[in-house]
Amino acid sequence: QHPQIIFSGIQPTGTPHLGNYLGALRPWTQLTSSSPPTTKLFFSIVDLHAITSSQRPEQLREWRREMMRVLLALGLGDGGGKGNGGTVFVQSHVKQHAELMWILSCTASMGYLGRMTQWKSKLDLKDDASPLDERKGKLKLGLFSYPVLQAADILVHRATHVPVGEDQSQHLEFARECVTNFNHTYGSTLIYPQTLLSPAKRIMSLTNPLKKMSKSDPSPSSRILITDSPETIQKKLTTAVTDSMNSVSWDPVNRPGVSNLLTLLSAFDGEGRTPEVLGGVYGTGMGLGAFKRLVGEVVGEGLRGVREGYERVSREGEGYLLEVERRGARVAGENAEATMVGVREAVGL
Ligand code: ADP
Ligand code: NA
Repeated sequence: QHPQIIFSGIQPTGTPHLGNYLGALRPWTQLTSSSPPTTKLFFSIVDLHAITSSQRPEQLREWRREMMRVLLALGLGDGGGKGNGGTVFVQSHVKQHAELMWILSCTASMGYLGRMTQWKSKLDLKDDASPLDERKGKLKLGLFSYPVLQAADILVHRATHVPVGEDQSQHLEFARECVTNFNHTYGSTLIYPQTLLSPAKRIMSLTNPLKKMSKSDPSPSSRILITDSPETIQKKLTTAVTDSMNSVSWDPVNRPGVSNLLTLLSAFDGEGRTPEVLGGVYGTGMGLGAFKRLVGEVVGEGLRGVREGYERVSREGEGYLLEVERRGARVAGENAEATMVGVREAVGL
């Protein structure tokens, strides 16, 4: 029986927002407190994925440092002596990820990759577009094949479990396909990973509640950053788009704005009440202005630990970040190398 190994990654593409926090980062911190010390946890800042779209080098370097500060602020990678903080590392520091990607590429199916949706949506192509589409000149090999790198990220660490949002389950399916292809060709070497599906609800944009909250939205007031001050959070909520009814009710279809605020309130509710229940609680006698202030207070308070952690890490300076990076690269590198010894042997390298 293999020990439990959990792997997850996040791109260094700016300060995370509430959607990233509730959908990915908070579940990671929950894993660190719920996993026994025998479970290995790896959290990777996947900078090799970030360069599938063009990046300014200095910006990429800064965003990588920023993501490291955020992960440390959340208590990941360090643990601060309390429990299983897991290992935080930068993907490009562990060369085995790229090495395994190449090896997997040699048994991965072009047809399968061609049917995947991400490269199509990034180029704004129809679902039935082929990689030989007329706009193929815009399709870079890295954007087309990055699911192979994602598979390598997981498989190189022999991950048994991968926490993913719904939008990513297709990629985990592809990783399993890579295991089948490799093991069929070279004998049973790689381990099939399982999905740990995040129960988190999608958080919607504050300025357009029909779109998901996203880093790529040009409007800064559409999203709350996890480092925002309580005042900034209040301001963004005051201007959040709702509707003309001056009351609170849970109705995601007809009242997406108010319902999104109820989702936020529920995410930080000490009693764990659902948005539906909270809609009932505040449905009588509270106007939207007062409700937005309440949500602002609860979210501001809910992010206080993160904010304080971020300030603490920021005071530490560069040396601390470099030390954590070095330690992460060593621990993750050893784990990855143990896989690669078997892979190279199986392939004859
Ligand atoms: P963005 O759209 O802001 O660029 P990413 O695609 O980089 O976000 O996603 C990083 C992680 O955050 C993923 O695990 C994704 O599922 C999660 N995530 C992103 N946006 C949201 C959202 N609005 N609600 C819930 N989870 C989200
Ligand atoms: Na993404």
